[in-house]
Amino acid sequence: MPTMNVQTLTLRALLFLGLWQTGRRSLASAPKLQHPPEKIAVVGAGIGGAAAAFYLRQEFGDGVKIDVFEPGAVGGRLATVKVGDHEYEMGGTVIHPLNLHMKHFIEKLGLSPKKDVPSKMAIFDGNEIVFQESDWFIVNFLRMLWQYGFNFLRMQMWVESIMDKFMRIYQYQQYGYSFSSVDRLLHAMGGDGFLTLMNQTLEETMIAEGFSQNFLNDIVAPITRVNYGQTLRIHGFVGAVSVAGADSGLWSVDGGNKRVCSGLLYHSKSELIPARVTSISFTHRPSKMGPTNSFYELNYVGESGSAHSLYDIVVIATPLHQGKSDITFSGFSPPIPSHYPGRYQQTVSTMVHGLLNMSYLGTTESAEGFTASDILTTELEGSVIFSLSSVDPVHIPEGYKRPPASQRKVWRLFSPQSLSQEQLQNIFVSWDSVSETRWLAYPLYRLPYRKSPPFILHDRLYYLNAVEWAASAMEMSAISARNLALLAHHHWHGQVDKIDQEDLHTRLRGEL
Ligand SMILES: Cc1cc2nc3c(=O)[nH]c(=O)nc-3n(C[C@H](O)[C@H](O)[C@H](O)COP(=O)(O)OP(=O)(O)OC[C@H]3O[C@@H](n4cnc5c(N)ncnc54)[C@H](O)[C@@H]3O)c2cc1C
Ligand SMILES: *[C@@H]1O[C@H](CO)[C@@H](O)[C@H](O)[C@H]1NC(C)=O
Ligand SMILES: *[C@@H]1O[C@H](CO)[C@@H](O)[C@H](O)[C@H]1NC(C)=O
Repeated sequence: MPTMNVQTLTLRALLFLGLWQTGRRSLASAPKLQHPPEKIAVVGAGIGGAAAAFYLRQEFGDGVKIDVFEPGAVGGRLATVKVGDHEYEMGGTVIHPLNLHMKHFIEKLGLSPKKDVPSKMAIFDGNEIVFQESDWFIVNFLRMLWQYGFNFLRMQMWVESIMDKFMRIYQYQQYGYSFSSVDRLLHAMGGDGFLTLMNQTLEETMIAEGFSQNFLNDIVAPITRVNYGQTLRIHGFVGAVSVAGADSGLWSVDGGNKRVCSGLLYHSKSELIPARVTSISFTHRPSKMGPTNSFYELNYVGESGSAHSLYDIVVIATPLHQGKSDITFSGFSPPIPSHYPGRYQQTVSTMVHGLLNMSYLGTTESAEGFTASDILTTELEGSVIFSLSSVDPVHIPEGYKRPPASQRKVWRLFSPQSLSQEQLQNIFVSWDSVSETRWLAYPLYRLPYRKSPPFILHDRLYYLNAVEWAASAMEMSAISARNLALLAHHHWHGQVDKIDQEDLHTRLRGEL
């Protein structure tokens, strides 16, 4: 995905990182009043479910049995595909340098960031390349200044100010604070300002911040297309996350992002059950101990047939939406729907090993000299692709250099529909392999913003992917996972003083 090399970390952000490393959960040490739960289920083994297993183990200790259900591949929307001798990311790819949970995971698991191969962005308007980064910082800077005045700098400052607030969630979580709804979590980070962002389009938000319409159409819309396959009419919060996804310093995990998921499952000592959960019901049974004699019964279907088990706590870590999952809930009052309102957007990811047709891009540049890696597209009628990227393997071999466009190499295209043979023939002179994955990728962020689905579906039944309606990203799922593990812990032990409280800063000041 695109990178604009004009950004440096703020001092404040760095100080915050220091704080993060040394922060202690001194406020979180209330005595445990109740026996721990016996069994916890997590439904789904994407980054959300895997992170939930990790944080649930952290909160509840070694005594509890954690089962993770997953009928497909561990990783979910983090997935790789083999082309030739190498694997390539075909789903979620880039991670922001300030995504502290993802960073923490790879450190904990002994993984490393993939070796950086500098990328360069270009923007294609359907006829020609209208904007292109050069190898030289100063050239980029002057070019951006010439074409867009201070819009680029302003954009970085805008994203930084939102990031500064976003980063507060790490401090809250470090001290054990949790939030019972997506809106409350957002409010704790950015106050009413963040809720307002959810209520207006990215376009309205940025116009109000003084950005020019040209800049929005030429630069911001293409970024939104590559990151979310949508227009400037998405809401301002996911829009800001999208723009942050064009910062510099973006990284991926060496060997593939999905390794974080399998690593977290292993580290959390949870059991992976290769089955699809079909229904969840609330039942009352006699229990050996403790005040709780109500359970959640999960019915599931795997290769060896169907079965069911009882759990004290359940975290659902898959979207409850049409086409994403189909779980029936019974015995709940008020009833829990199988699907919440709102749809997921289809993004087709097509990997092509082939030779690019330079005239498709309307450029007279020689293919040997063409080294743009991320070609974004403006929002035009009839535009068949969101983006076209020259992608590097998940593991960068020794001495690797990204080949120029004059060589056959691996390109990844994002598009709203499958690409026809004819469309591919237009974009490529020739190819020797094509593989396609259709994702129901992320929510359709249409306004007016309807309230996000709940985190809490029932007393001890939680829904992680509600957070995707604020923004869908690996880090968002990780933040939601930690929030729900804390929430489950506080509910279980009756510690209400850490739920929906925004007084952390006052309390910290009192402690000093
Ligand atoms: C093409 C694409 C590009 C993206 N790019 C980026 C990016 O660059 N950076 C970024 O941060 N994010 C990106 N994202 C978003 C990111 O991938 C997701 O937000 C994140 O991976 C969601 O993780 P999750 O675990 O919450 O959900 P998922 O990964 O969807 O995991 C849910 C899991 O639940 C399983 N499941 C479903 N139903 C059941 C059932 N009944 N029983 C048991 N299991 C079930 C599914 O098989 C799946 O494995 C991208 C997404 C796509 C599709
Ligand atoms: C969002 O907009 C609706 C109507 O447009 C309004 O009623 C609501 O109060 C707004 N919410 C926030 C948090 O601004
Ligand atoms: C390349 O692109 C041009 C312009 O879109 C098109 O006319 C041509 O058919 C394409 N294919 C090849 C093989 O050149």
